[in-house]
Amino acid sequence: MTTAQALPDALSEPARAFAAGPHRLVIGGERLEAADGRTFETLDPATGRLIAAVPYAGAEDVDRAVRAAREAFEDRRWTGISAAARTSAMLAFADAIDAKADELAELESLDNGKPLKLAKRVDVKLAAEHIRYFASWPTHITGEVLPVAQRGMHCYTRKEPVGVAGQIIPWNFPILMAAWKIGPALAAGCTIVLKPAEQTPLTALRLGELALEAGLPEGVLNVITGDGDTGAALVDHPGVDKIAFTGSTVVGREIGGKAGRALKRVTLELGGKSPNIILPDADLEQAVRGAYQAIYYNAGQACNAGSRLFVHSDQYDDVMSGLIEAAGKARIGPGLDPGTQIGPLISAEQEQRVRGYIEKGKDEGAELLTGGDSLEGDGWFVEPTLFSATSDDLTIAREEIFGPVLVALPYDSIEEVARRANDTEYGLAAGVWTRDIAKAHQLAALLRAGDIWINTWSAGDPSAPFGGFKASGVGREHGREGLEAYLENKTVWVNLG
Ligand code: NAI
Ligand code: MG
Repeated sequence: MTTAQALPDALSEPARAFAAGPHRLVIGGERLEAADGRTFETLDPATGRLIAAVPYAGAEDVDRAVRAAREAFEDRRWTGISAAARTSAMLAFADAIDAKADELAELESLDNGKPLKLAKRVDVKLAAEHIRYFASWPTHITGEVLPVAQRGMHCYTRKEPVGVAGQIIPWNFPILMAAWKIGPALAAGCTIVLKPAEQTPLTALRLGELALEAGLPEGVLNVITGDGDTGAALVDHPGVDKIAFTGSTVVGREIGGKAGRALKRVTLELGGKSPNIILPDADLEQAVRGAYQAIYYNAGQACNAGSRLFVHSDQYDDVMSGLIEAAGKARIGPGLDPGTQIGPLISAEQEQRVRGYIEKGKDEGAELLTGGDSLEGDGWFVEPTLFSATSDDLTIAREEIFGPVLVALPYDSIEEVARRANDTEYGLAAGVWTRDIAKAHQLAALLRAGDIWINTWSAGDPSAPFGGFKASGVGREHGREGLEAYLENKTVWVNLG
């Protein structure tokens, strides 16, 4: 604990008051310190300075939180109220998020580094919308009466909540990932233990409080802060019925393995190396703008970043010039500065990782067209970086970098580009830029990825399933499929004699 707390002047009073702490775990309606009093530090990525100490939940705290969630579930504190009442409580929760949108956006920008106006317009707004969408589900969760062959038999299905959901989320979209996890679980009637990432604990803790203030019964949403060991204890806890995880593929594999052995329900949203393909007939200006946003949005720290850009040889130089020009104009700075377009990376560790990839790109012979450096001074800023390469085998063309680093690759035919785009262990998203409707749909069918974006990137909606093929994950979030991941099917047979 060497760093001195130093909150930026730009913070409003409510955000400052919350950020300063003291912070507490939200367990069963109480705000608690860790059982052993341990804390960890959350830092401002724009300065590297201390924001606040946050309780470090150890195994005992994980156990307390899971027991609180279990008790709320067994007492039917959440499923025992009517479906309509669950909808109302969820709508009140969404309204509470909207009512605190300014404060939440500032906390998110402070803790994560992202531009404040995007935190508000995208992260916080979509978080409330997500809860609101799932609030519409409780009264629509129905079973069926089945036309079974046996006479005198009445057979029907019930959809029941899985139970206690352990939810582990990353630092790149903290409040939004929390909402993606909380929404379907609440709608299904589950109770929750949510663990935000150690780099960005603040907005999840605030959400835990807001849920209680909005009238969610105690113990329905518990929030515990800690690191990977906290997450592992949650995954291992026998009182957890279902695990939902968003984060790295490495950790996802581990969690998937554990869930397999324990036969717990599991959904995993993991990494990507998503191809973005510009066809020769595309509106080039639109495609360049799209390709730029696809990689540099959130400083490239997005699972669905368009990190491999395939451009037809005929347009290659024009597209490269367009991207270089746009990257040169990017305003990089602290998220709380109103002019900032690209914020810092989340941590010194992430900056080192990204810089390691940039060095590797140069060493392996990729051509650095723009960027490649960190900014002088405090904070973990890396310039928007563009490499041009001719081989798909370079490390930077294969591994997820999770930073503002784009690898552009020329191609000559549509069959070739489809094959190369699919030649990856991942399959989260893919993009196609074209005016040719037939080619657009041909590629949409050929590309092996959970989301295909035509003349756009990162379009999404709470109703539209999101998730990965291959090493990008297991299961889908959003929509009916996202809800089903929190439901068990029960088939009831009644002999009517
Ligand atoms: P991570 O996967 O280690 O962390 C994500 C979450 O999992 C955090 O809440 C963390 O505390 C928790 N966690 C870590 N180890 C765990 C374990 N053994 N059991 C249960 N929970 C555990 O990701 P990290 O280290 O923050 O970032 C490393 C790389 O992972 C990034 O550079 C990026 O490539 C990738 N990543 C991908 C994300 C995505 O959205 N697909 C999000 C974050 C990171
Ligand atoms: Mg932080």
